[in-house]
Amino acid sequence: MLKDGQDRGGTADAPVTIQLRIDGVRHTVRIEPHMTLLDTVREVAGRPDLVRACADGRCGGCPVFAEGRRIAACTTLAAVMDDASVTLAPPGPEGRPGPPPPAAAPPAPDTAPR
Ligand code: FES
Repeated sequence: MLKDGQDRGGTADAPVTIQLRIDGVRHTVRIEPHMTLLDTVREVAGRPDLVRACADGRCGGCPVFAEGRRIAACTTLAAVMDDASVTLAPPGPEGRPGPPPPAAAPPAPDTAPR
C-alpha cells in the first residue's frame, strides 16, 4: 500500500503499474487509476470468483483481506493497494463469502540454548 507522502507519479488519469499478491500469487498489473480492487482482481488478475453485487460497499459481497484487515473490494481503489497482499474470502454456504482465512501462526519462540 502507498505510504503517506508516497507518490506513484503520472497524472490523475494516466495508467499506473502496481503489484498485488492475490492468494499468494504475485501480479504486476497496469490499471487505470480509478479502477477498484474488485475490477482489478476480476478482470486484470483473472479472478472472476470475486463477486460484484451492490458495488457500493453495502452488501458485504466482495470481502477481501488485505494486510490483516477485511475490506470491501468494490470501494477500494486498486492503485492505493500497490505491494499489498490480498486474500479472497473462501466461499461459504450458498456461495456467499465465508469467514476470514485463518491467521498465520505466530513464529515459534527461539528455544536454542544460549
Ligand atoms: S459488491 Fe457489495 S460490498 Fe462490494
